[in-house]
Amino acid sequence: MISVATKVNEVREQVKKWKKEGLTVGFVPTMGYLHEGHQSLIAKAVEENDKVVVSIFVNPMQFGPNEDLASYPRDLQKDSDLCESTGANLIFHPEPEEMYTDGFCSYVDMSVLTEELCGLSRPVHFRGVCTVVSKLFHIVTPDRAYFGQKDAQQLAIIKRMVLDLNMDIEIIGCPIVREEDGLAKSSRNTYLSSEERQAALILSKSIKLGQTLVEGGETNCAKIITAMTDLIESEPLAKIDYIKIVDALTMQQIDTIDRPVLCAMAVYIGKTRLIDNFIED
Ligand code: PAF
Repeated sequence: MISVATKVNEVREQVKKWKKEGLTVGFVPTMGYLHEGHQSLIAKAVEENDKVVVSIFVNPMQFGPNEDLASYPRDLQKDSDLCESTGANLIFHPEPEEMYTDGFCSYVDMSVLTEELCGLSRPVHFRGVCTVVSKLFHIVTPDRAYFGQKDAQQLAIIKRMVLDLNMDIEIIGCPIVREEDGLAKSSRNTYLSSEERQAALILSKSIKLGQTLVEGGETNCAKIITAMTDLIESEPLAKIDYIKIVDALTMQQIDTIDRPVLCAMAVYIGKTRLIDNFIED
């Protein structure tokens, strides 16, 4: 059975032993309720490293006051089975008190990249992400860490943080994993009723439309966004938070596609906020 460590020191001791033996360590940070998207990250980590650590921690610091911290889905048994069957070696599953001890007051805060897209509607989110990922990196000290392209802004932010703060960790982005009908896999898909689940397909349809326009040679961002917006608005259960095209490295909005870009959206389907994106190199 895969071991589950709940204490920082247990992880440190295990990783130290592995490193003494000259083994490489891959790391997949997650908030649990794992699906095939997470599984693809773990599988890649297993392929590229001798040992793999998966963290399962619903990080309170990255949720705003009116967000879904309390209702975020959890299933440690199912997650452990998935980690084990995919070849991971250790799960780190701390309590919030283990990560944020009494008097905690140190944060990793990033400007510029965090101020666009999801950062606008989730103002505390990326500070929470950068802080917890830094802590996890210090605890696990991996050679490589794996993040999904579905959270494209998060991936760009983590890459920038590692560069800016001289963290000696290779960050590897992995492609979005979709359901057969196109919906991007997400732990939050479980919030959707069957009617909403059907309506949620409008995100991937709109992403496909945007991608087709770009691949067909359209470079005018406003035109692409208008076409994608019109399609989303044809779905009565959908409410757009944002649809934007930004520079893939800086996350700053652009008018013309003349460099690698990220086209990203956040859309409410009922009360559930879903994200999706495509990247054009
Ligand atoms: O992408 C996630 O699940 C979380 O933001 C992460 C990276 C595990 C940090 O809590």
